Amino acid sequence: VDANTARIFEVGPRDGLQNEDVILEVDQKVEMIERLVAAGHTDVEIGSFVHPKWVPQMAATGEVVSRIERKEGVRYWALVPNQKGLERALGAGLDHIATFMSATEAHNQSNLNRSLEESLTVSEELIGTAKAQGCEVRAYLSTVFGCPYEGAVDFDRVMDICAKLLDFGADLISLGDTIGAGTPPQVEDGCRRTVEAFGADRVALHLHDTQGLGLTNAYVAWQVGMRQFDSAVGGTGGCPYAPSAAGNLGSEDLVHMFDTMGIETGVSLDELVKTSAWLDEATGISPVSRYYEYRANR
Ligand code: HMG
Ligand code: MG
Repeated sequence: VDANTARIFEVGPRDGLQNEDVILEVDQKVEMIERLVAAGHTDVEIGSFVHPKWVPQMAATGEVVSRIERKEGVRYWALVPNQKGLERALGAGLDHIATFMSATEAHNQSNLNRSLEESLTVSEELIGTAKAQGCEVRAYLSTVFGCPYEGAVDFDRVMDICAKLLDFGADLISLGDTIGAGTPPQVEDGCRRTVEAFGADRVALHLHDTQGLGLTNAYVAWQVGMRQFDSAVGGTGGCPYAPSAAGNLGSEDLVHMFDTMGIETGVSLDELVKTSAWLDEATGISPVSRYYEYRANR
């Protein structure tokens, strides 16, 4: 990461699709991923290897991976909850792994069926095994700015878990505003603290746009040195185990904002808009990013 570049991590094929009522065909998922890569994305989360009963939308991730035509220089990431998920990801030939746990007990229990203490143990093993296999590992920490069950979250606790996950060997933490509860002052403070403590190359911000503050939060985060951001094409998605989690911050909105600031992302806004238009027409998913809606209705 450098001063005038933002690294955007496209999570549409995973976070975007996991909470949609429509389940895309394998061919459609492959086409979505290939369109996102053609748009210039070099980090794409292509799906998850979680329990198929918990998230049926992601059941076919192995098949999706086997059908993608992989491009040099592109990192294809998969979300895994445990050792079994890691084995499935490695078996599919992936070497970019995302783990996840929450900053709050109740959301961790609901999303992973285990306590925070147990999740720390699982994460240590998981990150250790993945690193030993030569994988790059990003660790999501959810509910950092608010929890659907517990409400406010003490950011000292977030700092503490981040430090542990990095200690276990994670290459980077993604700070998850799972239900879009973060306010600009909170995000500013949290991003400043994590960037100062861990460095801009070791933290990312994962925003959901539930209350309309997604882009504002991305802006304040940029101002305090955050350089890595997650977003989903079309602003699709949400966490199925977080009531009221709305869509991710839309990739079109994020890229458009950075374009206006003269910040490089390497991603083409026109191609993103075309990808959302294709989702709209070909898959029955309704993109909600503001910039897409503006272009579609022009
Ligand atoms: P569990 O029921 O406690 O699992 O679920 P278990 O370990 O007791 O195993 C039960 C059965 O599941 C066993 O099969 C396992 O083999 C099988 P059986 O022996 O009974 O035949 N199993 C699996 N099968 C396939 N793949 C696996 C797997 N693991 C176990 N990986 C578990 C625990 C973690 C599996 C479950 O809770 C789960 O899958 N949770 C995932 C939920 C999820 O995907 N949530 C959304 C993603 S997180 C998110 O969206 C937030 C994020 O975007 C950041 C943010 O916004 O903050 C990342
Ligand atoms: Mg999310």
